[in-house]
Formats: sequence, C-alpha cells, structure tokens
Amino acid sequence: PAMTLIAIDGPSGVGKSTAARLLARRLDLFFLDTGAMYRAVARAVLERGADPHDEAACLEVTRGLHLAFEPDGTLLVDGEPAGPAIRTERVTRHVSPVSAHGSVRELVVARQREIAAEMARATGGAVAEGRDTTTVVFPNADLKVFLTASAMERARRRAAELGIPDEVGRILDDICRRDEHDSTRAHSPLRQADDAVRVETDGLTAEQVVERLAFLARSGP
Ligand code: C5P
Repeated sequence: PAMTLIAIDGPSGVGKSTAARLLARRLDLFFLDTGAMYRAVARAVLERGADPHDEAACLEVTRGLHLAFEPDGTLLVDGEPAGPAIRTERVTRHVSPVSAHGSVRELVVARQREIAAEMARATGGAVAEGRDTTTVVFPNADLKVFLTASAMERARRRAAELGIPDEVGRILDDICRRDEHDSTRAHSPLRQADDAVRVETDGLTAEQVVERLAFLARSGP
C-alpha cells in the first residue's frame, strides 16, 4: 500500500504532540515530533555556550548533531535519548531564535524528510507534527491539519499539565511571545496551509480531538 503521511501544524500548547502521538498509535504509524528536533538543537547550542542569535554558530552546532527517532517516538541525539533536558524552561525560551535561522531550518528539514522516508519503509508512514510540516516540510502530505485553540485555553492546559494552575498569567505571556515570534519570522512562519483542515480544539478533550483526526484520516479532508 502507498505510504500515509499526515501532517499537523499549530501554535504552542495546542496539544499537537498529544494528538499526533495518539493518532499515530491508533493508525499504526510513526510519530515525528519536529519541535523536539529544534529543541535538541537549542539545547546543544546552550550547552556549548553558543549565542542562540548567532546563525553561523547555531548552524555549526546543528551540523555536528545526529538526530534520529526510536520506533516509539523517542528522539535520539547522537544515539542517546534526548529526555527531559530538551523541555526545560531555559530551552523553551531559546528555541524560537535558534529555529528562526534559515540555514538551521534547511538542515533540520532535510533530516525530517529523510526520517519520514525511513519511517515509511518501516511501517505504513508517519504522523508529523510541528509549525511548518503542512506548508514546507511535507506539502504533499495525504492529510494536512491546522490545530488551533485560543491562547487562554492553551495557557490553561499547559499550566494544568505542569501542575502550576496559579501561573496561567505567566504562561499566557510566554505563549503569546512564542506565537508572535513563530508567526512573524522570515523563514517558514507558522501559518495555515490553504489545503489544511482547520480543527478548533477549545472545549475538546485530547480523545475528542484524536477522534476527529482519525475520522479525517479515514474519510479524507
Ligand atoms: O512544538 P514545540 O513547542 O516542541 O516546538 C518548540 C519550538 O520549535 C517552537 O516554538 C518553534 O520555535 C520551533 N519549531 C519550528 N518548526 C517546527 C516545530 C517547532 O520552528 N516544525
């Protein structure tokens, strides 16, 4: 059978990872978390004491990293599981400037396409998730989805997830800053592809979102 490629984009904290992971499990496809790859680059940049705003330095760090995925979706950085170190607040704060560099994106995107091809050979295909998987990385995906939710709803979810419901305000600021940065950058800004299906998730549980995505995957957009 032909490979299946499902691409899901949307802003920070909309629940893309959860939805994409559950959908991949349900459809027996690989899960490709493209944000984790940019996080791994940002983490390596910080670890080496490089400046996230210095494109040449970030590119050099990116060139020196080998990024791959285990079948269960675990990101491997130079063969080692990336683990929680790529999800710290520090990395989260610096990942936007690092991922804004065009030359860094070019390398990472090329690797994402290789990985998707490997995944397609191993199973039926992949569910990729990120900011530009529908617009730039996999414009020919079989199904393209743009997941959205209001910034307030996303802040509430993230605060609940982190177990700090009192800090919704601070998290909301953070989300708005990342939205602004990710959607106004020169290279591959976050935007809805013309042929992507828009799925509003305010008030929906993760299960309900996956239900809707599985329906779209079965019936086509
Ligand atoms: O999805 P996640 O929050 O892990 O992504 C971290 C950051 O990586 C995003 O804020 C964005 O700056 C960047 N990113 C990107 N393109 C993607 C996925 C993530 O620029 N396809």
